[in-house]
Amino acid sequence: ADPNLLREPILDWYADNARDLPWRRSDATPWGILVSEIMLQQTPVVRVLPVWEQWMERWPAPADLAAQPPGEAVRHWGRLGYPRRALRLHACAKAITAEHGGEVPADHATLLSLPGIGEYTAAAVASFAFGGTHPILDTNVRRVLGRAVRGEEYPPNATTAAERRLALDLLPAVGAPLWGVAVMELGALVCTARSPQCGACPVQTVCAWRLAGRPPGVARRGQT
Ligand code: ADE
Repeated sequence: ADPNLLREPILDWYADNARDLPWRRSDATPWGILVSEIMLQQTPVVRVLPVWEQWMERWPAPADLAAQPPGEAVRHWGRLGYPRRALRLHACAKAITAEHGGEVPADHATLLSLPGIGEYTAAAVASFAFGGTHPILDTNVRRVLGRAVRGEEYPPNATTAAERRLALDLLPAVGAPLWGVAVMELGALVCTARSPQCGACPVQTVCAWRLAGRPPGVARRGQT
């Protein structure tokens, strides 16, 4: 599909179908958004929700977590899995407290310099918490853009230069955060990896993947 045909339908779809998630509400703090992005990287939304709520109550600001021993972060990680993420969040809270006056930095490069923050998380926090214009390329977004524009999924596990260029080209100058979360949501709810609901998709008539007969993607490592 011509990338320009995707924006309006996807944004309209999101306006009607977005889940009401606490880290997307207008009262979410940058710290809450940062914590949510780390938790959501390898864990589904429904499992993240209760743990995120407890974390925010217990440690509403980075300094609150930084004041605790790292083991406390792991102890309250619950069943999210990959508990090293709890230690990375703890290290991140310490760095924010020691080096940034306890405030999550707004700038992409500064975010990237924090422990445990990679390219995706830096872009997500700069965009969702501070309104920055950064391409968001998580697994869901990569699948949607690969299918809709390119006609097949991009290879798993590493983004290519072509893919980053496409994501940049698609990025609206105004409203980039909304666009990012809308594509992410479409990938999570409709354009899923294993059972895409093309009949419910706002770009079904222009999707290159659907028009090509939905060719299979390359399996991710560890997936059959
Ligand atoms: N909203 C913002 N970021 C998200 C994510 N990574 N997963 C689900 N919903 C989100």
